[in-house]
Amino acid sequence: MNHPENHILTIFGASGDLTKRKLIPALFELYEQQLLPEKFAILGVSRTVLSDQLFRERMKEFLPSAAATAVRIDRFLESVFYQSIDTSNAVEYKTLKVRLEEIGEALSIPPNYIFYLSTPPQMYQVIPQFLAEAGLNIEATGFRRVIIEKPFGTDLSTARALNQGLLSNYEESQLYRIDHYLGKETVQNMLVTRFSNGIFEPIWNRNFVHHVEITSAETLGVEDRGGYYDHSGALRDMVQNHLMQLVGMIAMEPPVVVEANAIRNEMLKVFQSMRPIREADVAKQVFRGQYTASHIHGQPVKGYREESGVGPDSRTETFVAMKFFIDNFRWAGVPFYIRTGKKLPTRVTEVVIYFKTTPHHLFTYHSDNEPINNQLVLRIQPDEGVLLKIGMKVPGAGFRVQTMNMDFHYNELSTSYLPSAYSRLLLDCMQGDATLYSRSDAVEKAWEYVQPILDAWKNNPEIPIFGYPAGTWGPEMVDGLVEEGVWRRPCKNLANDGEYCEL
Ligand code: BG6
Repeated sequence: MNHPENHILTIFGASGDLTKRKLIPALFELYEQQLLPEKFAILGVSRTVLSDQLFRERMKEFLPSAAATAVRIDRFLESVFYQSIDTSNAVEYKTLKVRLEEIGEALSIPPNYIFYLSTPPQMYQVIPQFLAEAGLNIEATGFRRVIIEKPFGTDLSTARALNQGLLSNYEESQLYRIDHYLGKETVQNMLVTRFSNGIFEPIWNRNFVHHVEITSAETLGVEDRGGYYDHSGALRDMVQNHLMQLVGMIAMEPPVVVEANAIRNEMLKVFQSMRPIREADVAKQVFRGQYTASHIHGQPVKGYREESGVGPDSRTETFVAMKFFIDNFRWAGVPFYIRTGKKLPTRVTEVVIYFKTTPHHLFTYHSDNEPINNQLVLRIQPDEGVLLKIGMKVPGAGFRVQTMNMDFHYNELSTSYLPSAYSRLLLDCMQGDATLYSRSDAVEKAWEYVQPILDAWKNNPEIPIFGYPAGTWGPEMVDGLVEEGVWRRPCKNLANDGEYCEL
């Protein structure tokens, strides 16, 4: 692995939640693993006036406080600095430039800069523009990279405008659009499972696969993010980005080499092959839901419309289930299903490949006499691992078949260091590797795919939004979406399933 070059990482939005909860801990994790460059500094930037010292103290609260690491925490914090500027005022970027030069001089760090935009999305156009006006986009003396958080646009036209604005001042290779799902070890492992095993690849196609189901369920509701979420909804918040990335990983052709553009080209081809859902078909292929008040484990739980920041008659979806096809040689005719929602019975993200049944059924089957669809479950979180469901003989007389589990749990692999998604992604950017970041064309293609759904919901208020009691698997009619099958009811533990397993 290349060690990253010495550089300064500037975090815009330094007083925000993401900085203290995710970014600073992820950077500390890299420091502890000795993966940061020898000469390195973090410069927090936001409007609040703070000294370096006060900023360090605030960040310290979010670092692991075990006594053994106290000295190391202090040493790490010595490389953390703070600069207050009004980021919506172009003139103030001169102050930022001077500060970067001062830190660079004091610590002998060459002018290699990464700028992380952990700000409200309205600033994604403004900050890179003002950085460019201050000359901080030019790579003559060192690298200049910009990391942009999600949401990347709120629809196709805003995403296009954002790309255009960014690309007028930066090369694509300088832009790192983050999707933290790509930073998850288990998401990357999907490529390894598929392309390093002779047994999976030959059957990974329409000849053997019956259908594919992708679930990303959360037990949490919108918490304190009601204000943001009510303008977003599950389709924008989860499907356009995280779930589309999972579809890309599961469905793509093998890349020619393991290299950023080769992998991103294959990802793009999947998005290009997804059959557009026409506005007129949205009501049949895409179901939306919203959680209603209920009781979970005997405790009363608020409905979405009672959450703070949410309108009392909001029609924002907290649940989406949809069916679609990928029109290419590998997947022609194979239905894909996606389901995601808040306040579902358990937190789980997984992909299930349902294989076709045997062509002729010799044996009698357990319970309801149904031949089994072998299932391969790729579990992203929690209890990360892989599960294969296969038919086995019930011991004793006759030839009765029962479905059994063969499971592998990721935590059995080794005790070696598993990076968090943010530390993996930050390290990749430091090394100039954009493989796990989204490219402009793929982001736009993903928006192009969901845009007719957004339009249909906006233009046809009669398309229903179904209520579901918090703590259930979404609206009842969603069960009818999967033809010839049922949704898996996953539990916290990979090998368990069933409606009520969390009780
Ligand atoms: C974020 C969404 O991008 O992903 C959140 O904005 C969601 O609403 C989160 O909760 C889910 O991420 P994870 O890693 O917990 O599955």
